[in-house]
Amino acid sequence: MQESHSCRQLSDKRFDVTHETFERSSTQQRLVLRALEELIGSHSDSSGPLRILSVGCGSGILDNQLISSIALSSRCFNYTGVDPNPVACQRFRESFDKLALKNVELKLKVQGIESLDINEPFDIIQLTHALYYFKDPADTLEKLRKLLAPNGKLVMVHAPNESLNQLSECFWSHHVDHDIWFSKRLEEHLVRENIDFTRHRIHGEVDVTQCFESGCDHGEKLLDFITQNDCRESGVEVLERCLYFLKKISHVDGSSLKVEHPADVFVVT
Ligand SMILES: C[S@@+](CC[C@H](N)C(=O)[O-])C[C@H]1O[C@@H](n2cnc3c(N)ncnc32)[C@H](O)[C@@H]1O
Repeated sequence: MQESHSCRQLSDKRFDVTHETFERSSTQQRLVLRALEELIGSHSDSSGPLRILSVGCGSGILDNQLISSIALSSRCFNYTGVDPNPVACQRFRESFDKLALKNVELKLKVQGIESLDINEPFDIIQLTHALYYFKDPADTLEKLRKLLAPNGKLVMVHAPNESLNQLSECFWSHHVDHDIWFSKRLEEHLVRENIDFTRHRIHGEVDVTQCFESGCDHGEKLLDFITQNDCRESGVEVLERCLYFLKKISHVDGSSLKVEHPADVFVVT
């Protein structure tokens, strides 16, 4: 698809609400959660409380599930989340407080990773679908690697640039100065820099049926997140093109239309 010029970036509020709708329509989040649980569960190296940093933590719709799951092991741990979206961070804090967990200390930092001034080491640093948004991904990766404790792990859950993400790439207007880092680019960077890593793929799928129901609020939210664009502001022609592309990459599953939603899990040690 050609780049569209009728782009309108999502506001913090719209990003937050559309992200949740998207994740709830996909099977991927459950698989990501399982992968993170396994990686964290197998980390037995630190003597004191486990220290976890989540960069681009968003509203905690993934992280609070992860926190609850680690808390079940009765292990004490510190969890630090970083995200510049104040709407999302507030929701994170509210849903975390409702969990009333005794063995976890949560710190939330409402800022971009670029301005984060932190020197303490972390056993696990996780970035789930966050690296694409950073101003300088290579620089940030370097900064995060320096924050790893000995034997620490940097876990990055990242999308390949396959059919679904090609739609977002058309609209991603805040990336005018560089290509979006999808997983191939991340992998090339790690190889070039001689950084040891493993990678495995997760195969989710997202139900996009409601995108094709005219005037459907759920469908509008899904399409907004998929395109990373406020499609309510786009003209009919742009909308029709998006839906045409979405239909082409989808498959029928019973009465639903689904699109493959893969992710790559990179682990840097
Ligand atoms: C797709 S969401 C993922 C949220 C969460 N990791 C999850 O999987 O549920 C990407 C998040 O990255 C955040 N983000 C954008 N730019 C950022 C930056 N410069 N530093 C840290 N986080 C950033 C966004 O605000 C957003 O919440």
